[in-house]
Amino acid sequence: MSLNYVIHKVMSDFRLEKVSFSYKDSETLVLDDISIDVDAGEFVCVLGKSGCGKSTLLKLLAGLNFPTKGTIYFEDSEVKSASLNRSVVFQDYGLFPWMTAGENILLALKERYKEKSRQELKKIAIDSLRKVGLDDKVYNTLPKRLSGGMQQRVAIAQAISVDPKVLLMDEPFGALDAVTRLKLQELLLFLWKESEIKKTVIFITHDVDEAIYLANRIIVLGQSPSKIIYDKKVDNNIKVTRENQFSDSKIIELRNELISIINNDVNQKAINK
Ligand SMILES: Nc1ncnc2c1ncn2[C@@H]1O[C@H](COP(=O)(O)OP(=O)(O)O)[C@@H](O)[C@H]1O
Ligand SMILES: [Mg+2]
Repeated sequence: MSLNYVIHKVMSDFRLEKVSFSYKDSETLVLDDISIDVDAGEFVCVLGKSGCGKSTLLKLLAGLNFPTKGTIYFEDSEVKSASLNRSVVFQDYGLFPWMTAGENILLALKERYKEKSRQELKKIAIDSLRKVGLDDKVYNTLPKRLSGGMQQRVAIAQAISVDPKVLLMDEPFGALDAVTRLKLQELLLFLWKESEIKKTVIFITHDVDEAIYLANRIIVLGQSPSKIIYDKKVDNNIKVTRENQFSDSKIIELRNELISIINNDVNQKAINK
């Protein structure tokens, strides 16, 4: 076994081999022959127009749906079911409205740590709420008493509370106002950067600026049937901040490149229809 092979085996989190997908009873191919590797600790943003198959791809990675053709591996095992190692955060917060924030978080924790007492689990839940900047009082609060931003913080707290290896996020900030959205982007980046062993994040968005701000690798999905039309690490020399986000020449270049790739693909598909 070569050293390269060993390193590759250790580093790679997801491996998608020729993955295609159609929904049941539908002839339409939503994803077409997608092959990628995602390394542990990468922060990948998947960009694409609405309807191109981003959520479909994320559900396959989560193990909530399965490829029609091809295979998805996570840490070298085929993905055959959902797993607490791959937490999912959706746009609509995903909290049960009849349970308090704390009870929502406990649900996943009870599954993860079957041997721990309720008191121990409560402590982990409260720690997770603190990590996302929420007060302990939120533990006993129903989701409807929280703002959208706070509910999404609870959803992130729930996702990280089980200490997953991967965070799969489907337009998690899409429903939030602009200011809250920026704050949560910063929170997410902080959580990702500060953890000793970086979690792999796969973050779906249709917002080019959000992708540029967050990602260290950007993948663009084309229009259905979706193939990958762009896949690059963000240049290490590009350090995106709120101050330089719209003025740095390298960032402007990257934004223009991404927008033109997305627009060309859309126009091309329109011509071919
Ligand atoms: N449960 C489903 N059954 C059939 N078709 C679906 C289902 N969910 C999504 N689709 C179709 O698959 C395509 C991709 O959808 P989706 O993955 O939700 O796109 P995106 O998240 O990029 O907006 C769309 O054409 C959508 O209509
Ligand atoms: Mg979607």
